[in-house]
Amino acid sequence: MTEQQFIPKAYSKTVESGKVTWESPSNIALVKYWGKKKDQIPENPSISFTLNNCKTITTLTFSKKENAFDFEFDVYLDGEKKDDFKPKIQTFFERIEVYLPFLRYYKFKIETKNTFPHSSGIASSASGMSALALCLMSVEKQLIQADATLSTVERPVDENYFNQKASFLARLGSGSACRSIEGDLIVWGQTDAIEGSSDLFGVKYPYQVHENFKAYQDTILLVDKGEKQVSSTVGHNLMYNHPYAKNRFQQAHDNLEKLKPILESGDLNDFIALIESEALTLHAMMMASMPYFILMKPNTLKIINKIWEFRQETGLHISFTLDAGANVHVLYPKKESSEILKFIKNELVAYCQNGHYICDQIGFGAKLIKN
Ligand code: DP6
Repeated sequence: MTEQQFIPKAYSKTVESGKVTWESPSNIALVKYWGKKKDQIPENPSISFTLNNCKTITTLTFSKKENAFDFEFDVYLDGEKKDDFKPKIQTFFERIEVYLPFLRYYKFKIETKNTFPHSSGIASSASGMSALALCLMSVEKQLIQADATLSTVERPVDENYFNQKASFLARLGSGSACRSIEGDLIVWGQTDAIEGSSDLFGVKYPYQVHENFKAYQDTILLVDKGEKQVSSTVGHNLMYNHPYAKNRFQQAHDNLEKLKPILESGDLNDFIALIESEALTLHAMMMASMPYFILMKPNTLKIINKIWEFRQETGLHISFTLDAGANVHVLYPKKESSEILKFIKNELVAYCQNGHYICDQIGFGAKLIKN
């Protein structure tokens, strides 16, 4: 697979206007993507659980323009015009234009909302960029299907290709977004451990997964809802010339290899050891960067210690992972959820900002709402 494959045959822009709505979820990485090369190519493979409740719903309205000079679009969040979102989308459009040659020919209105509070400190880039990529793919699909100059063989858009290209485009918006198109376990980044894996897009985890991991729970403890001091993009760049980068990238490959028998056998203790080590390694990379930084807060550490104590006392399979921030994702199997949720409410919610937390679980990917 190469990028070339996603450059479409010329199609005429015969559709005058339209509107499409997609909802797309967030995801939480188990083996983390941290470090990238040019064009959003990851330095190492990653794997994530697709989430179910944390999602972005985006409506894209499009209408044909007189000329094809500049990109024309407006962005709204919860009905409010957001000009500060425009530079990111402008960059996204510039990166994907070669793969979606209709972009300059249409004017777009992008209306978006999240099921989680914008200020929750939860990254909306994965759900937001994947929802937008899917909307754009639906536009392309309409253009292809309406083009009478294409042969009947060329006109149907295969679902597999649609999802793969949506993931490919989403990656160019935000790396982790390419893991949000489908579910429930998605791999991104070429590795010998996973057949069919690619640096260009996410693929469904192709091997057997034990019952223990079905409907796995993720309760997100919102420790700090403020703006992060260091963005993921800056953090990724600090992996250049990082003293531990080479070993870290190799470790991610090794961890994907180790995860295979764990996912197959359902060994929760080995699963916990691997994912907690991944989370702490991610933050260790941040602390060892130059300049160094810490995104965990005192309450992040208090929660982690409480989780370890409770696990030790009860033998229940509660664990945590972290993304690039202070919030804690508490992960646990569905069958232990009543006791663990009680513990979370009684003991951990006190460490959340304003007592806020979000209950989520593994999900199965994005959905077309209206075409
Ligand atoms: C720590 O996908 O947000 O969540 O590609 O620069 O948009 P950009 O970065 P982003 O990085 C996510 C990093 C992470 C780990 C992960 O999701 O794998």
